[in-house]
Amino acid sequence: MQSILEYMTNEHAKCDAHFATAEQQVSKGNWQEANAIFNDFANAIERHFMMEEQVLFPYIERTMGNSGGPVAVMRMEHSQMRDLLKILTEMSEQKDREGFLGTSETLLILMQQHNMKEEQILYPMAERILADGQEQVIEEMENL
Ligand SMILES: [Fe+2]
Ligand SMILES: [Fe+2]
Repeated sequence: MQSILEYMTNEHAKCDAHFATAEQQVSKGNWQEANAIFNDFANAIERHFMMEEQVLFPYIERTMGNSGGPVAVMRMEHSQMRDLLKILTEMSEQKDREGFLGTSETLLILMQQHNMKEEQILYPMAERILADGQEQVIEEMENL
């Protein structure tokens, strides 16, 4: 059985790989490839955010009630990352290399810190809450 931590950590790694490739293509000035890969990355991360916001986080919030503070922080960080993704999409379309590489650095740092908090705190918490129900939650996220 795949655990929530394993499944979601693998999702983070896939998104990171897309992102690194997009950055490489931008720095080389291959805008056509860069735009296509950045688009894939933006779609993949948006889907991952939705899986968390619509399926995983509500399970944690239902169990923790008002002490669900960590989830609220994660939701807020998603919104910060979405703002940066929007800016990066525009910069990529406008072929703004310097702007893109500067803003992507900010997104990378935010994303790394966010993912680390999820992998070290939130997902282990979800595993304890869900226990044997983990597989079913993974299925729910995949069917979204
Ligand atoms: Fe997240
Ligand atoms: Fe995540």
